[in-house]
Amino acid sequence: MEGSAQIRLDEQALREQVGAIKWFHSIELARGITTPGTDATAERVELLRLPEDLSGKTVLDVGAWDGFFCFEAERRGAARVLATDSFAWHGENWSNKEGFELARRALGSAVQDIEIDVMDLTPERIGTFDLVLFLGVLYHLRHPLLALERVASVTRGQLILETHVDLTWMRRPAMAFYPEMELAWDPTNWWGPNPEAITAMLRAVGFERAELVTPDSWAYRLARTARHSARNLRFLAQHGVRPPACIGQGRAVVHAFR
Ligand SMILES: C[S@@+](CC[C@H](N)C(=O)[O-])C[C@H]1O[C@@H](n2cnc3c(N)ncnc32)[C@H](O)[C@@H]1O
Repeated sequence: MEGSAQIRLDEQALREQVGAIKWFHSIELARGITTPGTDATAERVELLRLPEDLSGKTVLDVGAWDGFFCFEAERRGAARVLATDSFAWHGENWSNKEGFELARRALGSAVQDIEIDVMDLTPERIGTFDLVLFLGVLYHLRHPLLALERVASVTRGQLILETHVDLTWMRRPAMAFYPEMELAWDPTNWWGPNPEAITAMLRAVGFERAELVTPDSWAYRLARTARHSARNLRFLAQHGVRPPACIGQGRAVVHAFR
């Protein structure tokens, strides 16, 4: 078979495999082939302030799902990247690990993986890492402070944490509790800490410095709240749910250093 015909065939096969998977991340696997993720992944990269150059670094991504941030870390030069997850990978929910595995194959990536719950992370089991990514996971956990302790134990350099936040008008450390479906109609959402609670918890588990890197003026908090509330209220209305106190909710990114 001629080279160009073979490439078209491979592309077609890849498109079919991509189409058979329910994606969370949008990952460019080849020119013109990007996975149709529901997450606005690319938009988040800038917000996270991921270091441009990760040459020689070891990187751990906790709760990696389809692995976008692992592949991005590898693209930025990381020497070793480990993806970990549990809930989204074990196939008992609507998602599984097929997206991660297909993306890794298609990209020719050397990202490693271990299926492990965040609560089971220890240096003995997985080692320690220069950079740890803990993105969009904290609010899904029943025991956030304990989870941060586990994450701290495997971080030897920097942690980048991104999470849902709530109660952002308060300047004292505080967390909103969602015992049922109050947040996004999702029973796996438990906690909405405010930025002050996140930085205080990170210091409590041993990080020397923890800094909010998302803008933090009152104007920004208000604009973020308005955007988030509009989306949330629309979503809740579709489910016929009484609006919760979603004023003051949003997303925050914190960088912490050991
Ligand atoms: C909203 S997704 C975020 C995915 C990715 N980190 C990102 O930011 O795009 C939440 C992820 O956390 C994972 N997760 C939830 N609970 C977990 C746990 N106890 N241990 C490990 N991962 C968990 C889910 O499986 C899922 O992949």
